[in-house]
Amino acid sequence: MICVIENNNFSLRDVKQTLYNSSWDPKEVADFHETIGNKETPLVKLPGLAKRLGIGSLLLKDESHRFGINAFKALGASYAMYRQIEKNPQIKTFCTATDGNHGRAVAWMARKLGRKALIYMPQGTVSDRVRAIEQEGADVFVIDQAYDIAVKMASTRVDEANNKSGKHFWSLIQDTAWDGYEDVPLDIMKGYWTQMHEITRQIGKEKIDVLFLQTGVGSWAASIIGYIMKEWQNPPACISVEPHSANCLFESIKTGNRVSVKNDETTTMAGLNCGSVSTLAWNILKNGLVGSISISDKLSEEAMITLASPVSGDPVIISGESGASGLGALIGLCKKHDFNTFKEKICLNKTSTVLVINTEGDTDRSNYKRVMAANIENNFQFQK
Ligand SMILES: Cc1ncc(COP(=O)(O)O)c(C=O)c1O
Repeated sequence: MICVIENNNFSLRDVKQTLYNSSWDPKEVADFHETIGNKETPLVKLPGLAKRLGIGSLLLKDESHRFGINAFKALGASYAMYRQIEKNPQIKTFCTATDGNHGRAVAWMARKLGRKALIYMPQGTVSDRVRAIEQEGADVFVIDQAYDIAVKMASTRVDEANNKSGKHFWSLIQDTAWDGYEDVPLDIMKGYWTQMHEITRQIGKEKIDVLFLQTGVGSWAASIIGYIMKEWQNPPACISVEPHSANCLFESIKTGNRVSVKNDETTTMAGLNCGSVSTLAWNILKNGLVGSISISDKLSEEAMITLASPVSGDPVIISGESGASGLGALIGLCKKHDFNTFKEKICLNKTSTVLVINTEGDTDRSNYKRVMAANIENNFQFQK
C-alpha cells in the first residue's frame, strides 16, 4: 500500500533563501572522509528494472558498501565526531540514540578515535542490530520506549555526566536537531555531502528527473537537497518516503507545520521509525520536497526482493528494509494506474531518469533471510 501527497509549499526559491548564508565546503568534508579510508560506493544502472517499471532509466547508489559497515550513516557521524574532538580533545565518551545504523556508525568511529561509546536503542530493536553495535566495542541500552524517548534519555545522560564532573568529557552525537541543539546535527548533515559529491561525479552530464529519499528524522534527505540546490543546475523532483506507521514528515508536509506522530507500532524499516522531523531538516524539506509518500513494510520487502533477484542482467543488490524503501515507493507508484496527476507533476514517465539510494544492506540478517525465503515460497507475482 502507498499514500501520496503533493507539497503545497514546494518552492526552490525558498530553499535557496534558507541556504543562502550556510557554510559550503563539500571538498573539505570529502577530504576528511578520505583520511579515514573512504572509498567511493558504486552507482549502478538497472535497465531491466527500468523497463519493467516503464521509466526511461533507473540509477541506484549502493551504500551497503560504505566503510564496510553496511550503511551510509558513518559519513555523518564520523565528520561530526571529528569536529567535536577538534573543538574539545578531552572528550572521553560519545553517546547517542539510534534505530541501528547511526549507533553502529558512532560506535565504529569512537573505536577509531580511541573513545568510549554509549548507545540507547528503542523498544523492539532486533538482536542483530544490538550485536553489530556491541561488536564495535560500545555499551548498548535497549529501553522499553520509542526512539524519540531514547533520544531524550541519551541527551539527559550526557548532561548529567558533564554536570557531575564539571567537565565536558561526554559528547552527544545525535543525528536530529531541536531548538538549542544544532551544531552536531548540522555537522552530521555536512558529512552526508560526500555521498552527493560522489554521485555528482559519477553521473557526469546525466540529468536526474526524480529522486526518492527515505526519511527518519529527515537529516539525510535535507542534506541531499541542500547539496543539489548548491551544485546542480537542474534539480530533480525530490520525494520523501516513510513507513505508514512513522510518517512524521508526511503529516508535516500535509499540514504545513512540523508535527510529531506516535510511532509505537512496529515497522521493519527500523532506520525510518522516528516520530519527529529534525528542526534543521524541516527548514529545508518543507519547501524542497515536491511530494511525500508513505509505504507499507510489504512494499519495501518487494523492493528488497526485486533487487536480490534482478531481471534481464541487472546486478544483484543486497538491500535492507529502510535501504530499499525509496525503490519501494517507485515500484508502488509505477504499479498503480492512479496517482496520475502526481506522476505528471513529478515528470515520472517512460522517458524519466530516476535515482534511488540503497542506504543500507542487510542490517537485519534474520529478517532479510525471512523475506527472501518467503519470496521463494510464495513465488511472488512481481518476480518475472
Ligand atoms: C538505512 C537508513 N536510511 C535512511 C535513513 C534516514 O535518515 P534520517 O534519519 O537522517 O532521515 C536512516 C536513518 O537512520 C537509515 O538508517
